[in-house]
Amino acid sequence: MTSASVRRLAAPAPGWTTTTDVVVVGSGVAGLTTALRVRAAGLRVLVVTKAMLDEGSTRWAQGGIAAALGEGDTPEQHLEDTLVAGAGLCDEDAVRMLVTEGPGAVRRLIETGAAFDRDAEGEILLTREGGHHRRRIAHAGGDATGAEISRALVSAVRDVRDDEGVELIEHALVLDLLTDAEGRTAGLTLHVMGEGQRDGVGAVHARAVVLATGGLGQVFSATTNPAVSTGDGVALALRAGAEVADLEFVQFHPTVLWLGPDAEGQQPLISEAVRGEGAHLVDAEGVRFMVGQHELAELAPRDIVAKGITRRMHETGAEHMYLDGRHFGAEMWEERFPTILASCRSHGIDPLTELIPVAPAAHYASGGVRTDLRGHTSVSGLYACGEVACTGVHGANRLASNSLLEGLVFAERIADDIIERDRLGKLAPRHEDTTRPIEVVPLLAAESRAEIQRVMTSGVGVLRSADSMAAAVEGLAALSEPDPEKHEYPQVETWESTNLHLVASALTAAALLREETRGCHWREDAPDRDDENWRRHLTTTLVEGRLQVE
Ligand code: SIN
Repeated sequence: MTSASVRRLAAPAPGWTTTTDVVVVGSGVAGLTTALRVRAAGLRVLVVTKAMLDEGSTRWAQGGIAAALGEGDTPEQHLEDTLVAGAGLCDEDAVRMLVTEGPGAVRRLIETGAAFDRDAEGEILLTREGGHHRRRIAHAGGDATGAEISRALVSAVRDVRDDEGVELIEHALVLDLLTDAEGRTAGLTLHVMGEGQRDGVGAVHARAVVLATGGLGQVFSATTNPAVSTGDGVALALRAGAEVADLEFVQFHPTVLWLGPDAEGQQPLISEAVRGEGAHLVDAEGVRFMVGQHELAELAPRDIVAKGITRRMHETGAEHMYLDGRHFGAEMWEERFPTILASCRSHGIDPLTELIPVAPAAHYASGGVRTDLRGHTSVSGLYACGEVACTGVHGANRLASNSLLEGLVFAERIADDIIERDRLGKLAPRHEDTTRPIEVVPLLAAESRAEIQRVMTSGVGVLRSADSMAAAVEGLAALSEPDPEKHEYPQVETWESTNLHLVASALTAAALLREETRGCHWREDAPDRDDENWRRHLTTTLVEGRLQVE
């Protein structure tokens, strides 16, 4: 029997309950692929999503999905590029599995209804992105790959709307995991921002929980992630006692449309595929500063390009660099990059005739909730999939367009594991242990969000040092002292701020400990990669309310 208390966000007691076999949190490629596959095997599934079904991170993905689909390309070459980008920290078995199962998973996605761009002969068109030595990125709608994948999966889910074994709850923020007396998953609590039967805080009793909540980009001031990406899955997992790993490796996308020094929240992405098709990075003098820095120049892995841009910004005192795609011409821009063209024009920039101002912004969490190759976390019955997970495929830096592929391949593996366990009678219903004392986590004020973002951007952003991170630790600690005079009322904004704070604290603790520069973790005070001491992973857990990094 586990006697320690359980940590939960301050929240009203559940006012409603429901029961299912599998609850999937998130409606991107990872969540919906898992849900459709477990349902096809006859298990009941409940999908919980924070906004609408089609509003997760997946729909914002532009470039595409990487897989060895082209003539002459092989999973082995895809593996090589992934390992190089991961800077010594990829789990080779996980990568091998990803690149080997990837092409089949993409074909199954096509069978589900996703329409990729094809040439006149009907062959899938492939582009290049940073770190890939070959054209192997399948895309859709030119630069709207995520939107097409999301459309196809959402439509497949809607096709089974009348199926009583599938339930959807939109506009719901997941709060905490429910566990039984042995610490195994028994379901979760959530808050539905709606009206009617499912309104307010409720509890879902389930035999397995799959976290597919996406990223944590909102920890920083400027990010390509949507507003819902507040690290809720990582925070829930930490409170539930799960291990998270590699959190220090946050990828900053090199080319995000620069909208001014005070731009905050989600920023428009300028896909790496624009460089893949031949756009150049230049400074204000027109110098192609990436040439000579790496054999692939502008198409080096994205940590190298983000560093190249940041370095040039420092050297020249500029607030941004430029992307030059004027030589593409109107037809290419309109057909290949319609989303980016429209987005630039809506901000008064015409890429046909003007340089596009760009700067790095937080884009992707390479780490997350640690899982094995079947998506199991360290808490029995809790799975993690997609950006929220750390499967080992990304190492210290994700290779471009490997994320949709990871979501897809691991979702299939998780669904198969759940189906197999059910068949073997190992997926038993569990009852929440109501005897263990609950330690209530006090909530932060809604306004803390902006301060967390400010502290993290200045201290733990693209460039880090012991001093900058110590200042971040101090800034975060100051926020964690709840005001005894003020009781923060549980609501979406206070829960989100509290989650962001926990994730920011865990990320900073890991980044401070790793005294080297590797992949997307760039320390000014430890500028070299140190394989002797640091070719290893940092794992973080929450023990009795304190973060422990090992
Ligand atoms: C992009 O289109 O540049 C983003 C692709 C990715 O993050 O993998």
